[in-house]
Amino acid sequence: MTATTAPWRELAHQLADQLAAEGVLRSPQWGTAIEEVPRHVFVPSFYTQQPGGQWTETTSDSARWLEQVYRNEPLITALAVAPNGNQVTVSSSTKPGLMVRMLEALDIEDTHRVLEIGTGTGYNAGLLTHRLGDGQVFSVDISAGLVNAARDRLAARGLTPCLVTAHGGGGLPRHAPFDRIIATCSVPAIPWTWADQVHAGGRVLVDLKRSVHAGTLVLLTRRKDRLEGRFLPRWAGFMAIRDTDTAPPHDPFTVTPAEGTKSWTTLPPLPWDALVPWFLAQAQLPSPIRFGYRGATQHGRPVWAVFTSNEGSWCAVQMDSDHDRREVRQSGQVRIWDAFETAHSRWQHLGEPGWDRLGLTVSADGLHRVWLDHPDSRHHWTLPALRSS
Ligand SMILES: C[S@@+](CC[C@H](N)C(=O)[O-])C[C@H]1O[C@@H](n2cnc3c(N)ncnc32)[C@H](O)[C@@H]1O
Repeated sequence: MTATTAPWRELAHQLADQLAAEGVLRSPQWGTAIEEVPRHVFVPSFYTQQPGGQWTETTSDSARWLEQVYRNEPLITALAVAPNGNQVTVSSSTKPGLMVRMLEALDIEDTHRVLEIGTGTGYNAGLLTHRLGDGQVFSVDISAGLVNAARDRLAARGLTPCLVTAHGGGGLPRHAPFDRIIATCSVPAIPWTWADQVHAGGRVLVDLKRSVHAGTLVLLTRRKDRLEGRFLPRWAGFMAIRDTDTAPPHDPFTVTPAEGTKSWTTLPPLPWDALVPWFLAQAQLPSPIRFGYRGATQHGRPVWAVFTSNEGSWCAVQMDSDHDRREVRQSGQVRIWDAFETAHSRWQHLGEPGWDRLGLTVSADGLHRVWLDHPDSRHHWTLPALRSS
């Protein structure tokens, strides 16, 4: 570093080099954006969760703040208090490598008008505006506080994209149509309003997460009567879209594993240990599933992995077992674990395909059809329309 170079510039340069070396950053335009848009302006502080669960804030007063901000890491930037009193995360600055991966996948051209759902810190809106200019970038967030802060930070760098406080599920009709829509929060179903707001041939990139960990980024192209495209090969996870500017809803009811019907499984209890089959299982689950833990061993490890559905069904799977099988308890109309077992066995039968072999077609009636290799494949799964919770 030379004496005349601001420390952040050197760190931003190193970050761009790292992303290029990893093969994530390919376009010179995004390289310049990473080098010239100062992430630290958009992340004046961030939160870290301690082993006991409590959150601590790191501000610019801390010696390690600047260096951490230019690491290829996501940073939690906003918390809210849930009804049970716990602090939960409601906004973050996405991992730069993931952001660049999405921007590269969108194949953005200089003339494009882009809508971002989930302004958050404003950093990604900053990258987009650096590349495209003020008049071509639009970004919405459900939180007025986040939008206002992002607007001020962008303006301080001379960037004035159109930022709006709105529920991103509705897109931004008064500024449509767009060439690209990028969502940086996950959705349980792709809103057809987005299809209405992209040009024919335009693209939508979003994390489709039906339930916790059940889905990943999908890149859809607007065709005449549908949105269609493939899942990106590498799994990614965003925080879920919220309907209000409050903490996301919590487990709706109490689960007592001992009261459920008993069976056994040889499959792993955690959704992230079998991501693709867990996603495919959603075809048999009428509502999104929440995930949590119950009980604790003397070493503090949870006893049960618990899945709950909005209408009252649940299953609990033993975390640790001395045998090659684990106990399962299920209750309610929807047999959540049975749906997972069925999907897992079909997935194995198909040769355990990864995300790169799966695609999605969304039609105007809201139907979500997941297919293997090709839209006309005889191997497909229909995700049920979602009942509101
Ligand atoms: C991972 S953060 C976005 C990161 C952001 N793109 C950045 O560069 O900092 C996800 C954001 O989605 C926002 N969000 C959640 N529900 C939303 C909704 N219904 N409409 C718009 N934004 C929403 C959250 O408030 C949060 O700021």
